[in-house]
Amino acid sequence: MSQINRRLLHKDAPIGVFDSGVGGLTVAREIMRQIPNEKIIYFGDTARVPYGSKSRETVTRFSEQIVRFLRTFQVKTIVVACNTASAYALDVLEKDIDIPIIGVIKPGAKVAVEVTKNGRIGVIATDATIGSQMYHKYIKELNENVTIYGKACPLFVPLIEEGLLEDPVTDEIARRYLAELIDIDIDTLILGCTHYPLIRSALGRIIGEKVTLVNPAYETARELKGMLKDLDLLNDEKPGLGSNLYQFYVSDKAEKFVRFANSIIKYGILSAKTINIEEY
Ligand code: DGL
Repeated sequence: MSQINRRLLHKDAPIGVFDSGVGGLTVAREIMRQIPNEKIIYFGDTARVPYGSKSRETVTRFSEQIVRFLRTFQVKTIVVACNTASAYALDVLEKDIDIPIIGVIKPGAKVAVEVTKNGRIGVIATDATIGSQMYHKYIKELNENVTIYGKACPLFVPLIEEGLLEDPVTDEIARRYLAELIDIDIDTLILGCTHYPLIRSALGRIIGEKVTLVNPAYETARELKGMLKDLDLLNDEKPGLGSNLYQFYVSDKAEKFVRFANSIIKYGILSAKTINIEEY
């Protein structure tokens, strides 16, 4: 990471969070729970979702535009709340940014290495995240002896966005995707896509109770809290009522985004603003 410029960082500044669409709301939700004094500016790239089937170059270009947009709010840190963008673009983003930035892959990888007992970890994610091998890379850096089994599950995102969270169709697809991970006796499964925590109970039921599920959204919020604390950047004062704690921006279909957001976040999200991200 390039040098952090402390003069740019203020405790009461917001945290910038972005994703390819609604999925990163699972990360935003954990940040809201774990560090409730923090303001959040969330951007969901609903016009250009999904990222999981796009190339590294495209996802990197999109991510750079979003970082430029979020920085117009003088954010004190940026959370790349998308596994695909973390896998493809975080390295590049880190190189020329002078505020702290974190992704969702490292925190999930770290916890998986801590919890596995038999050294066999499964990762489920988009095609892009699995293809990038970034979970493999971080896990191997932490423990060379762990074996990682990646499985792309591209049908989960559309099923979840259709609201089929507790549904026989989703269960059947999950059984097919998880069959080979069950056969090779993993004891830890990383939910390596923003959407998957929303079908956590179905996944847990199918993979069996002997397998520990790791939720990178939760771990990222924990890591973020620790990082802000170390940098003395946690907001110690609760922002007053009407201080616009959470602001949401999207690149298309704001109403659909708000509906989905309200189905998973309990704060009563009233609106999201549509912006033209191509201008950044
Ligand atoms: N947010 C993406 C991820 O975590 C999933 C949706 C997409 O493919 O854009 O990888």
